[in-house]
Amino acid sequence: MMSNYILGIESSCDDTSAAVICNNEILSNVVAGQDVHKFYGGVVPELASRAHQKNIIPVVYKALHDANINKKQINAIAFTRGPGLLGSLLVGVSFAKSFALALGIPLIEVDHIQGHILAHFIKNKEDHYPKFPFLCLIVSGGHTQIAIIKDYFKMEIIGETIDDAAGEAFDKTAKIMGLPYPGGPSIEHNAENGNPLAFNFSKPVIPGLDFSFSGLKTSFLYFLRDNLKTDKNFIEKNKNDLCASIQNSIVTILMEKLIKASKQTGIKQIAISGGVSANKLLHNELMKAKDEYNLNVFIPSLSYSTDNAAMISIAGYFKYLNKDFTDQKVTAYAKKIR
Ligand code: KG4
Ligand code: ZN
Repeated sequence: MMSNYILGIESSCDDTSAAVICNNEILSNVVAGQDVHKFYGGVVPELASRAHQKNIIPVVYKALHDANINKKQINAIAFTRGPGLLGSLLVGVSFAKSFALALGIPLIEVDHIQGHILAHFIKNKEDHYPKFPFLCLIVSGGHTQIAIIKDYFKMEIIGETIDDAAGEAFDKTAKIMGLPYPGGPSIEHNAENGNPLAFNFSKPVIPGLDFSFSGLKTSFLYFLRDNLKTDKNFIEKNKNDLCASIQNSIVTILMEKLIKASKQTGIKQIAISGGVSANKLLHNELMKAKDEYNLNVFIPSLSYSTDNAAMISIAGYFKYLNKDFTDQKVTAYAKKIR
């Protein structure tokens, strides 16, 4: 088989990333995070764009270096077109456009969420890949959806959040407790030594396969407010239990709908994607469900869960095979174009 080298670029939020793929095999995946946002407890868009601007060239340079290839060997450039922060996206989009123009090679646009899903097709040791159709739970800072993935670029969303995303629920409750951004890893870390059943927060009653997380966040806020009235050290004293309980609530909500979706559709192949799919409790619960319901489950490796360019390059590779190219008129989109 011919070796097709695709350079992938991702800059939709606060990670500047570049990756090189050779067919379906990742040769390099460089991610530069942005510590500037920690101080503010969330991503500050203008600071994110500036950091991308500073990082993009060194990150791409390192990706080529780590892959041990010359820029002249690249066959095409794939980039995240959206959704995400517009200023952040523009850095990656403009870079990809000019680099492709300079090298005289095709340009491939990738939807960020599509990238998260297709990360499951990156070559792995076990050669363990989902077969169509499969269910995918997409859980990130901006998205919470269950979709039937019918083909590489064909999916049907059968459930989604009506308010906050699951990642947002982690981030916002962490912020309430004064834990650092991003909230998911902070909560997971503190939850390790906590009791998941210590506190009980009201679970939303949402019909069908849709989700809601804003009620959970509010009930968490009120619960803390009430307890802080009688004990100002309540959060500090109960941090681990609070983290374990909130994590347990979020994961329970996700798992209930995912199992319901599997029963409803009869699809037994289940994948999880997006930043929250890095969560170990979610992995454990999915493995339990695998045994109980005889499922075939797909969990991305950690480096392909949170934002990365490897997932953009695998999506780019499949589009490259289809000759699905874009031209120099392309611009970023902040929200998904439906
Ligand atoms: O996919 P991602 O890196 O960026 C977006 O596309 O949004 O997802 C980021 C989200 C954040 O909300 C973050 O708190 C959450 O993923 N996250 C986690 C974990 N690692 C990242 N949530 C729970 N457990 C984790 N280990
Ligand atoms: Zn993402």
